[in-house]
Amino acid sequence: MYKINDNYLKLQGNYLFSTIAKNVNAYKDSNPEANIIRLGIGDVTRPLVPSIIEALHKAVDEMGTPEGFRGYGPEQGYDFLRNAIAKQDYQARGCNIEADEIFISDGSKCDVGNIQEIFALNNKVAICDPVYPVYVDSNVMAGRTGAFHPVTGGYDNLIYMPCLKDNGFIPELPKEVPDLIYLCFPNNPTGMTITKPQLQEWVDYANKNGSIILYDAAYEAYITEPDLPHSIYECEGARTCAIEMHSFSKNAGFTGLRLGYMVIPKELVSNGVTLHSLWNRRHGTKYNGAPYIVQRAGEAVYSERGKAELKEQVNYYLNNAKIIKEGLLDAGYEVYGGVNAPYIWLKVPNEKTSWEFFDTLLHEVQVVGTPGVGFGAHGEGYFRLTAFGTYENTKEALNRIKNL
Ligand code: MLT
Repeated sequence: MYKINDNYLKLQGNYLFSTIAKNVNAYKDSNPEANIIRLGIGDVTRPLVPSIIEALHKAVDEMGTPEGFRGYGPEQGYDFLRNAIAKQDYQARGCNIEADEIFISDGSKCDVGNIQEIFALNNKVAICDPVYPVYVDSNVMAGRTGAFHPVTGGYDNLIYMPCLKDNGFIPELPKEVPDLIYLCFPNNPTGMTITKPQLQEWVDYANKNGSIILYDAAYEAYITEPDLPHSIYECEGARTCAIEMHSFSKNAGFTGLRLGYMVIPKELVSNGVTLHSLWNRRHGTKYNGAPYIVQRAGEAVYSERGKAELKEQVNYYLNNAKIIKEGLLDAGYEVYGGVNAPYIWLKVPNEKTSWEFFDTLLHEVQVVGTPGVGFGAHGEGYFRLTAFGTYENTKEALNRIKNL
């Protein structure tokens, strides 16, 4: 009789955003007239900008000609895109990253979920709490986390790093040394971010202890304040301790197109083996490469016109973030994030749990957000709203919340 991978049975409930969608759909079924505003999952709402649409059309037309047709592409991504990323996301910022250290993919969630495969099962993993659930769940599926403990609300073998008001939502260096450390700044879900000296401490800690930092930079385009790090490679020594993940979803609206990339510097070596060679092997075996036309759209993100159009798009969402933040502050809420990130993290009022607050918002004002506890035990008592809605819906949602 075949056996299943029973690590899956250790997962807690469904994927967070599927649970939310299920609750919202159930409400909608019994209240078909309800005008629900969804500020839950961080999915964008603006259409793709013209330079990206043009690049897509052009690439589609090319594919219909004998000269322009492409079959299987390089699994690691086309050079035109890897070169643009290396030059503009890294070298222009003074980071020493080469094009062949960049692996193109169909998005950050897959990279973040898959990267743990090249590490041994007995590696000790540290995560922030609250945290983007994919870091935890992908390690649970692999069998790296041990049993779930209902009392602590956590897995036996994980090192949890609480991110709370008291520490400015920045994790402290763990006393028990982890092998793998997941960090995400600007942060999902708290919307807070880290300074360069603080990030440098993490890089020094990882280098001293032989740990790897898996750095999720999906939201770097939302940094508005000067001197904040857009990439971990702005820190000295990061090439020997960090892998970085990037998405095209949040800066360019590719949630439906799908594109992302991961940087693996060639200096990352364990027992004489480079992580770059392992991931290259894994990518070549399990992945066919992102579609040519989508990579051409990705290239347009780095064109002068594309950059100008996307700056405007990011500013549109940042303006929503401001509306949410200021509206909530006006209404007397305790609010974090929303300045260098598209997420607003608010303290749930009146001692309610975060799921109770979710129900209140849905049932009383038909606004959907994400309960903080869905991101981890230390998210209890908090709630996340996203700035990725339309301007009109964002304003309307805030009016409704103010009138609660
Ligand atoms: C979120 O809402 O946390 C993100 O949209 C999820 C994702 O990007 O996968």
